[in-house]
Amino acid sequence: MQQETELQQQARIRHEVEENLVQLFAPEDEALRTTITAAKEAGLPAIHINPLQGKLLQVLAAACNAQKILEIGSLAGYSGIWLARALPPTGRLITLEVSPAHAEVVQHSFEQAGVSDRAEVRIGSAHELLPQLVDEAPFDLVFIDADKPSYPHYLDWAIRLSRPGSIIVADNCIRAGQALSESALDDQGVAGLYQYNLQTLKHPRLRAIALAMDEDYTDGLNIAVVLPEA
Ligand code: DHB
Ligand code: MG
Repeated sequence: MQQETELQQQARIRHEVEENLVQLFAPEDEALRTTITAAKEAGLPAIHINPLQGKLLQVLAAACNAQKILEIGSLAGYSGIWLARALPPTGRLITLEVSPAHAEVVQHSFEQAGVSDRAEVRIGSAHELLPQLVDEAPFDLVFIDADKPSYPHYLDWAIRLSRPGSIIVADNCIRAGQALSESALDDQGVAGLYQYNLQTLKHPRLRAIALAMDEDYTDGLNIAVVLPEA
């Protein structure tokens, strides 16, 4: 048998470490696995967050004592289940989904995971739904994982709907490095993500970091904490 190259060995070790981390810190239960199967059967793309990202969202929810969580972009409800499970029984997750067909999958996912008492999916464009949330603010945690060109706009709203100490997390803020520089701005999605990263760095009320934490270390989350007003 041919010996594995150094690159192959590194890839294998990274993969094993990832599997061990998931098994120890973020094992998926039946409900989460069923949600992924249901998403596939409904023809949704397999672009949900991974278990370690789900667990990180739960840790962040605990860090800001989250009672109210807002999610922009529900997909199939996989991240919503992680988020809802971080809430106390009296807590509330509102997740915004533009596709009625996807929202139906989400509702079903929440029911089979036993979180539909605290997790609500609202159907419509986030551009229209966000201004309607002012009376329900502040949200302790906001998770953005929707159409990429709109990320800067969603960040403005996330800040507006937050309080000092709220945490704003956004998925896909690295994009193999493209979202970290001006090199690929002809792509509207990448441009939105780059602008988002810049805004989190420049905004006087935010302290932010982006972390590569997907399977191949090419994409990850921007995590920003809302600071007190000076
Ligand atoms: C895409 C969107 C996502 O939110 C993601 O996590 C991965 C890919 C996409 O639109 O291609
Ligand atoms: Mg995403």
